[in-house]
Amino acid sequence: MLSGKKILIGITGGISAYKSAVLVRLFKKANAEVKVIMTKAAKQFVQPLTFATLSQNPVYTDFFNPENGEWNSHVRLGLWADIFVIAPATANTVAKIANGLADNLLTTTCLSARCKIMVAPAMDLDMYSNPATQKNFSILKERGVLFAEAGDGFLASGLSGKGRMAEPEEIFETAKNFLTQIQDFNGKKVLITAGPTREKIDPVRFISNYSTGKMGYAIAEEFASRGAEVVLVSGPVEVNAKSHKITILHVNSAAEMYEECVKQFPQCDIAIMSAAVADFTPEITAETKIKKTGDEMTIKLKPTKDIAKELGKLKQENQIFVGFALETDHEMQNAESKLNSKNFDFIVLNSLKDKGAAFGYDTNKITIISRSGTEKFDLKPKNLVAKDIADKVKQLLEK
Ligand code: CTP
Repeated sequence: MLSGKKILIGITGGISAYKSAVLVRLFKKANAEVKVIMTKAAKQFVQPLTFATLSQNPVYTDFFNPENGEWNSHVRLGLWADIFVIAPATANTVAKIANGLADNLLTTTCLSARCKIMVAPAMDLDMYSNPATQKNFSILKERGVLFAEAGDGFLASGLSGKGRMAEPEEIFETAKNFLTQIQDFNGKKVLITAGPTREKIDPVRFISNYSTGKMGYAIAEEFASRGAEVVLVSGPVEVNAKSHKITILHVNSAAEMYEECVKQFPQCDIAIMSAAVADFTPEITAETKIKKTGDEMTIKLKPTKDIAKELGKLKQENQIFVGFALETDHEMQNAESKLNSKNFDFIVLNSLKDKGAAFGYDTNKITIISRSGTEKFDLKPKNLVAKDIADKVKQLLEK
């Protein structure tokens, strides 16, 4: 059932570590390859030998193997796996991975892994309900980490409440669902633009906007996770793409973004224009820093190329072309006019009037407008918004 799939299991120091033996067994029975990383604390609960025997692989517990002086590469382990399942995940490890700490082999592997990360939290009920832990859970969820949610019941502390690790069968099912999820964009090539552009005034100044690129990167991850090959033409952003199926082409200006897009578009089946491209650029870029003179200063701007409009002219019948519209007023009217003037198949509207939507937020609230109608969606994390957009593209491909 999971033949050829590579499962990395991370075990941290919780009493439910003994249940991870059953988890390893379930993956092995499904013909998956399994490797195990244990933290120092996990070894206090169960011997590595148990997992080595069940997984038929050596267990990794440290960066160095004291017996042969070999280095256990966290990068190699993270690249090897199709999924990294941390079960049990203690409150401490959840906090570390939410904050990017890399203080042992497990957390370091987690930080460098490109595969899907999944956690099965296990802790005492008060640690579980603590706002700090809850905040860490939401950070991880927003980043697309999969959860095998903790259950309610008897806890090792003698108390009863939420915090029990999900049963191994449940953890296995969640991972299996991810690993066997439909690769409905397999063989498709997707072009995505993301982030802002920077229009140079002089060597130290530029004109830009508040776009963070989070939405475009979330869309790229969604298509890649469903089998597509993604080319992401990205303006300067802080976010990063994790999937190895995403090729990022870094650009600065609208002109550079245009150049890359016209090169890529003809080979693509789908193109999604989520970048906040500057509409104007300085007519002249000063070669040296502009000095203040005490007088007023005027910068003459000229229009940039409208990338979407140009690609809209090149669009072929079999290509799906999607645009974004960020509006502050007359939202529907403006979005509909862009849908037509840029030859989009549908346009994703977000309004700055909606709280928690658009620039900088981890959530978004969208309306999808096509020639066949309008669909409104609730405010949700950007990775789930990305799923709605990909599902809509899928619908059009099937028509
Ligand atoms: N777009 C683009 N190139 C530009 C400007 C916009 O590719 N130079 C794309 C955006 O990525 C988005 C769509 O066109 O998919 C609409 O962008 P938006 O900024 O909302 O609209 P504009 O056409 O720039 O109109 P205005 O700024 O006047 O609202």
